[in-house]
Amino acid sequence: MFVVSVAYFLLLVSEATVVLDVNTTVGESMTFPCTLTIPATAALKNLRFYWQDKENCVLYSFNEGREMPNHVHKLYRGRVTAFSQEMIRGNVSVKLNNITLQDNQKVFEAFASVFESGGTKRYTVPHGKICQVTLHVAVPYKSVNLAVHEESMTADCTTKRGFPKPLVTWRFQHLYNKSQHLLDPRDVDTTAEQDPEDHLYRLKSTIEISGGPYQSVTCLIHNPTLNVTLIATHVLNNSEAEWSLPGWAGALIAAAAAVLIPSCGLLAYHVYRTPRRARQPSSSPDTGML
Ligand SMILES: *[C@@H]1O[C@H](CO)[C@@H](O)[C@H](O)[C@H]1NC(C)=O
Ligand SMILES: *[C@@H]1O[C@H](CO)[C@@H](O)[C@H](O)[C@H]1NC(C)=O
Ligand SMILES: *[C@@H]1O[C@H](CO)[C@@H](O)[C@H](O)[C@H]1NC(C)=O
Ligand SMILES: *[C@@H]1O[C@H](CO)[C@@H](O)[C@H](O)[C@H]1NC(C)=O
Ligand SMILES: *[C@@H]1O[C@H](CO)[C@@H](O)[C@H](O)[C@H]1NC(C)=O
Ligand SMILES: *[C@@H]1O[C@H](CO)[C@@H](O)[C@H](O)[C@H]1NC(C)=O
Repeated sequence: MFVVSVAYFLLLVSEATVVLDVNTTVGESMTFPCTLTIPATAALKNLRFYWQDKENCVLYSFNEGREMPNHVHKLYRGRVTAFSQEMIRGNVSVKLNNITLQDNQKVFEAFASVFESGGTKRYTVPHGKICQVTLHVAVPYKSVNLAVHEESMTADCTTKRGFPKPLVTWRFQHLYNKSQHLLDPRDVDTTAEQDPEDHLYRLKSTIEISGGPYQSVTCLIHNPTLNVTLIATHVLNNSEAEWSLPGWAGALIAAAAAVLIPSCGLLAYHVYRTPRRARQPSSSPDTGML
């Protein structure tokens, strides 16, 4: 009876994988937290754990009291450190330094086991996946430029050298009641280009402004990974005339851009997808800005 319940407990422990998403910026370091319940009698030489990505490239490996740097894949060599004083408490977190866009969307998994000393490898904590971390990497857009062209009655909003592709929203403020009005994405013409070398985006978004009871026009550029929004506002030279927004359909400029990501062993093209536009006013599924 006792043996059965202990076995059941270990099964539960081995099956509980802690799943986490972490977002960071290129060049930064990030600790992937992970802790396992370790028996009080265990020593470091009874511990084995390793971290690897979904392509089985190893980030960090520890076995019987020693780091195993030879197991580490070149993608991660010299970039990953663990916390040796913490390990005996079951803290098998690792820190990835100098994060690059190549690390974006990688899923890192930690596997661990604890076994008894001596010749026979009897596990006190069976081998299992205990943690999973998905890494989202961004490059912040530094500035947004909003230009209003009175001759062509257009406004464009531009930004560049960021990642991933930003989400654009246009907002008007009414002259009299100060209420705000979001522009329908179909009335926005947005093009985003990705640099084939460094994968950074440049974006231009254009709308028509044919005058009207609006006090100002605002362009919002949102980085979904950093959850940061850059805002530019232009105060319009109002005429008193009533007007309505032009109804021309915005061009659909979307599509996932291809990013070259070296994978383990060979080079492979992965289609990189940025998430669909979120929190926008309603639009049919196949039209919109992004
Ligand atoms: C594990 O160690 C890291 C590095 O010292 C620390 O930041 C983290 O808080 C520790 N986690 C736990 C659960 O103690
Ligand atoms: C990141 O890489 C640069 C050189 O590319 C190096 O000078 C720096 O020490 C690295 N930082 C870390 C935290 O590894
Ligand atoms: C503000 O005024 C505009 C145009 O005059 C109108 O369409 C809009 O509904 C008004 N908003 C509010 C909150 O009253
Ligand atoms: C992290 O980045 C992902 C991918 O861009 C995004 O979906 C998610 O909302 C971000 N999380 C936070 C907390 O900003
Ligand atoms: C983004 O930040 C806003 C506050 O600026 C917050 O309300 C929202 O929950 C955040 N979104 C995510 C996905 O974390
Ligand atoms: C503002 O609008 C008025 C009336 O439409 C026009 O006469 C004036 O030249 C405009 N000013 C600028 C700076 O465009």
